[in-house]
Amino acid sequence: MTGLRIVLLGPPGAGKGTHAKVLSRTHGILHISTGDILRSQIQAGTELGKRAKSFIDSGKLVPDDLVVEMIQDRLNRPDVQKGFILDGFPRTVEQAKALEAMLEASKTPLGVVLEFATSEAVIVNRLSGRRACPKCGTNYHIRNIPPKQEGICDLCGSALIQRKDDKPETIRERLKVYHEQTAPLIKFYKKRKTLRAVNGDLEIEPLQAELAKQLQTL
Ligand code: AP5
Repeated sequence: MTGLRIVLLGPPGAGKGTHAKVLSRTHGILHISTGDILRSQIQAGTELGKRAKSFIDSGKLVPDDLVVEMIQDRLNRPDVQKGFILDGFPRTVEQAKALEAMLEASKTPLGVVLEFATSEAVIVNRLSGRRACPKCGTNYHIRNIPPKQEGICDLCGSALIQRKDDKPETIRERLKVYHEQTAPLIKFYKKRKTLRAVNGDLEIEPLQAELAKQLQTL
């Protein structure tokens, strides 16, 4: 593996998926989202999808062993050689240690961990207004990034849905899980001097400019 390896870290709704897609386009780096992979496994009715579904619907994390094996398989594919953006992984210290071991084995360390420091009010607003295309995975926001025609995906014309885990009570649970299990990774990566924080409250364009600036200085 060569190329730039990036982890996007941040609470649910911080904009990791949205900005990973743009960075992937502008910098030609592969985007790997554990949330997207798990949702496609659920849709396809695979064994992994069946085991993951109840955790995702209730806002809990899918067990580490399942997710680590899934990422290990993904990182063994040849298309990761030019680098990748990990969106939604790692999410626990165990997962971070497993990733470290995988990258050490291939002698390809992480380039940077970009932390989206985002306030709770912004998160709740973004998640409650998010609409997703179940077919092509494009995300919209009813006010910030509305589709051209209400409720319809600009790219593939499918009817947009609200994700099951974007209900207010599940958003609260996901935030709790983030603070308990994922936020400790900030300290983990600070110690390894790979962490850089960006202001996740910024709107799309200024945040994208900030991310591009961070990548330029690596
Ligand atoms: P996952 O799909 O990864 O969800 P998440 O981390 O909770 O993140 P989201 O997809 O909700 O938010 P995002 O930060 O990508 O924001 P987005 O760009 O969409 O995971 C789902 C579930 O899968 C987990 O709860 C867990 O169960 C399981 N899972 C996944 N990975 C796992 C792992 N490693 N271990 C265990 N379990 C795992 O943006 C949100 C909205 O805001 C959108 O509407 C967007 O249009 C808008 N927006 C984005 N950025 C901006 C901006 N800068 N300005 C204005 N609006 C913006």
